[in-house]
Amino acid sequence: MAQTYSLPPLPYEYNALEPAISATIMELHHSKHHNTYVTNLNKALHAHAEATKVTDLPAIVALEPAIKFNAGGHINHSLFWTNLTPQKSPEASPDSAPKLHEAIRQQWGDRKTFQQKFNEQLLGIQGSGWGWLVRQGTTGPLVIVTTKDQDIVGKDQVPIFGVDMWEHAYYLQAAYVENIWTVINWKTAEERYLGGNADAFKVLKAAI
Ligand SMILES: [Fe+2]
Repeated sequence: MAQTYSLPPLPYEYNALEPAISATIMELHHSKHHNTYVTNLNKALHAHAEATKVTDLPAIVALEPAIKFNAGGHINHSLFWTNLTPQKSPEASPDSAPKLHEAIRQQWGDRKTFQQKFNEQLLGIQGSGWGWLVRQGTTGPLVIVTTKDQDIVGKDQVPIFGVDMWEHAYYLQAAYVENIWTVINWKTAEERYLGGNADAFKVLKAAI
């Protein structure tokens, strides 16, 4: 029997990220959208396990896009919720990420310039996708990357934080791309920056 994943609870209330993200959008995004990725991932993994049992290779291949899409959705959203925090929490202060900020300064000069570059990449995404700050390999450098739909970051990239460019989020809240910076969890970002892939993805193990 394939592993069954579950929807991870948010580490804050639905209204905790206002005004950057409204409570209505948070609830829809978590309880409906993320939950659908989890449900469909479990279905596809179960069918994949059944097909593997009877060595039905065409059926296995046919299930792979659904696994890629829904697993990506589950992975990306799990990373996203935990790299956000209420604006008033101490973790929203950039001071929570001293080492990461040193690396950002080396790469882009200052945080404001980095944020501008990141926002430019976000606004260049067509349809839906994600903007990520990643550490390339074990020693860097830091890179801003985008992924399409629910694609995840590369295997040799450690995701430090991601921003979901889900069209409802930025069509309904025009200032989304600006306001998201007020709710970035810099403490989590610092931990991911200093850690490896396993640290960044530990939230997934908790959500099984
Ligand atoms: Fe989303």
